Amino acid sequence: MKIAFAAGEVFPYAKTGGLGDVAGALPVELSKRGHEVKVFMPKYNTFGETEFGLRYNWDLGEIPVRVDGQIRPVHVHTATLPGSKVEIYFVDCPHYFHRFRVYTNDPDEDERFILFSKGIIEILQRLKWTPDIIHCNDWQTGLIPVLLKENYAWDKMFDKTATVLSIHNVAYQGIFPKNAFAKAEIKQEHFMPGGLGEFFGNINFLKTGILASDVINTVSETYKLELKTPEFGCGLEQFLVSRENDFYGILNGIDYDVWNPKTDRLIPHNYSPAGMGGKIKNKKYLAGRLNLPFDENVPLIGIISRLVDQKGFDLAAYGINQLMELNAQWVILGSGDEKYESLFYDLAKKYPSKVSTYLGYNNELSHLIEAGADIFLMPSRFEPCGLNQLYSLKYGTVPVVRKTGGLADTILDWNESLAAGSETGTGFSFNEYSSMNMADALKRALDAFKNKSVWNKIQKNGMKQNFSWGRSAEKYSDLYKKALLKRSGK
Ligand code: ADP
Ligand code: GLC
Repeated sequence: MKIAFAAGEVFPYAKTGGLGDVAGALPVELSKRGHEVKVFMPKYNTFGETEFGLRYNWDLGEIPVRVDGQIRPVHVHTATLPGSKVEIYFVDCPHYFHRFRVYTNDPDEDERFILFSKGIIEILQRLKWTPDIIHCNDWQTGLIPVLLKENYAWDKMFDKTATVLSIHNVAYQGIFPKNAFAKAEIKQEHFMPGGLGEFFGNINFLKTGILASDVINTVSETYKLELKTPEFGCGLEQFLVSRENDFYGILNGIDYDVWNPKTDRLIPHNYSPAGMGGKIKNKKYLAGRLNLPFDENVPLIGIISRLVDQKGFDLAAYGINQLMELNAQWVILGSGDEKYESLFYDLAKKYPSKVSTYLGYNNELSHLIEAGADIFLMPSRFEPCGLNQLYSLKYGTVPVVRKTGGLADTILDWNESLAAGSETGTGFSFNEYSSMNMADALKRALDAFKNKSVWNKIQKNGMKQNFSWGRSAEKYSDLYKKALLKRSGK
């Protein structure tokens, strides 16, 4: 099949969270399975053209794209996704994308992604490349299905093209004032009550995508079920319920070419289940980097996260004194809301031999933490899939997670596995969202850490898991077939 894959971020060019990782890896896996894939993302000025080998596409030249009544010139650059033959097309419009940030709160944020969405369709037309599927991701690409079916319906080349929308996080919906549809030249009737995009007097790009795409999926089975409830659906639950028959859950994979302690070039000591010696050396190296005293017998708890409400760190805030009494050290890498940044910043100041905090984004350090920490904490309030717990499994860094979304689908609690008569657990988890329950799960992990043979077993159980993209890519192939059937009215 021919697949056009559209995302607001694609690793290694731009990444603010897991979507970047997914968009950098899934297309490569799809192409390995025989699909012809082209990836599209905006050309931000946050990454180097030469560093990533971007080429200007002279054949396409300048493409006029109209947004809010103004013609904006769009140019196209291409590159090849690392380790693959997949071509990525960068939609270049400095007026919108040279902001030194990937996403913004600027008043024209809607226009930026209207331009991106229309730009993709215009590029496809000029390439004369008819995709079987346009695979949209999150609100930034949520308008593509309706644009394709209505604004560009005149172009017969898209008659059979089906659209898929993947929801990576329903908490981000792209809600804009009501003139956003006029800016995109989408019919005003879709802004009327009951229309595709109307949302409490505003326009909602994600809702539009949910209602207009042929099929929808999200990134784990449990999150799919959660999304249909008011607690998790963030106001979109009724629309997801209305599309229940076309709504699927497909767990993300991870890229073991990037995340593998045996081959990772960002860590000083490689290791594998057959030889774990490197892990303790990495812990020592990491402690040195962080100015923490190194003690093999004191467990090091790692956190790598966007510091936002979703990730559950208010649990840490409430129970912080209790947590600091635990015999453990902490390393926190993250950025986000001021309240969480100052919580962890102050903690490191108050407990310099126990806590080290790095505020900001640091890819190399994220690999070092995965390799050097003993435990990885992810107490999310909700988690569509989550990738870091999967990286942690591979690095023998035992995850402690809340049972929600993808965390519930990927981590098997050690004590629960024992209770069921097997020693198959890969981590520790808790159900009810409370700091007491989180502390309890952490304490169970710390107890297990004291017994080296038990710990070793849990680590190895995790390292043996296989969350490679292969299985997920198969499921996406099936999803594309369903989308085509739907498009053809069958
Ligand atoms: P989300 O997409 O909700 O942020 P995921 O677990 O799916 O959560 O993916 C997060 C990705 O972003 C992981 O690859 C993680 O390593 C990375 N990440 C998050 N914060 C940082 C940071 N401060 N520095 C480096 N990488 C980070
Ligand atoms: C989102 C979710 C995260 C998921 C990622 C990739 O950012 O918060 O759980 O892993 O998208 O799908």
